[in-house]
Amino acid sequence: MKKVILSARNVCKTFSQGGADTQILKSVSVDIYEGDFTVIMGASGAGKSTLLYSLSGMDGITGGEVLFDGEKISGLPEKKQAKLRSEHFGFVFQQTHLVSNLTLFENVAVTGYVGKNRTVNSVREKALELLRQMNVDNAKDRLPSQVSGGEAQRAAIARAMINSPRLIFADEPTGALNKSNSAEVMRLLSELNRNGQSILMVTHDVRAALCGNRVLYMEDGNILDELNLPPYSDGEEKSREQQVNEWLSALRW
Ligand SMILES: Nc1ncnc2c1ncn2[C@@H]1O[C@H](COP(=O)(O)OP(=O)(O)O)[C@@H](O)[C@H]1O
Ligand SMILES: [Mg+2]
Repeated sequence: MKKVILSARNVCKTFSQGGADTQILKSVSVDIYEGDFTVIMGASGAGKSTLLYSLSGMDGITGGEVLFDGEKISGLPEKKQAKLRSEHFGFVFQQTHLVSNLTLFENVAVTGYVGKNRTVNSVREKALELLRQMNVDNAKDRLPSQVSGGEAQRAAIARAMINSPRLIFADEPTGALNKSNSAEVMRLLSELNRNGQSILMVTHDVRAALCGNRVLYMEDGNILDELNLPPYSDGEEKSREQQVNEWLSALRW
């Protein structure tokens, strides 16, 4: 039996702007399971990013609750939320948000020094190992401006992994990459998942989505449907792409 790692219970999110309220998340309830590669798909503006940020605590919610490991994390003081995020969550975004005046290695290592009681040497070793695993160790001493978008994103994934997170949140991690870099990033994320890493990823790219084993479809602030797939392995792209596409067309995507 799979273990629930993260739960949304009737999560609502309303933005207030210029006196008007807009409800972006309309009572979303969903369980995310440990070991899964869960994908959130849906058209632009469906509320995918808002849901991801609401679940991770980066953004406050205006109704319902979020539970991590069965414990309520929504509504905790920001300091506690920040600690929880740095200890248990990893983040990958469309833009890498690497620190521009630090090398790739430093970007990864600096994140490892924060929060946990680890020795400098063990953090450095782990950073190097992750950069190797992400196939970007030959560029480790370069600044983000001196590497390709794909290399920068691979370093950002290494950074997300440095504190051995329970769950990786990824928002359109291939959104700024060309086809071959996207494929490489997805190959690496799939590999992490095969090694047990739980991932929750937002994408509107079918080729990225097919790497997941569970795809949720969002529309207008609700989760409408989900598609369950066997765990991904290399060489199955064609049939999985077809499966995801058929499911999406039935949803009038
Ligand atoms: N900070 C904000 N203030 C007001 N409206 C927002 C804010 N963030 C997002 N929205 C609105 O919420 C809706 C969903 O946005 P988002 O979650 O980014 O969608 P998606 O990631 O699916 O493209 C959009 O209509 C967007 O304009
Ligand atoms: Mg988005």
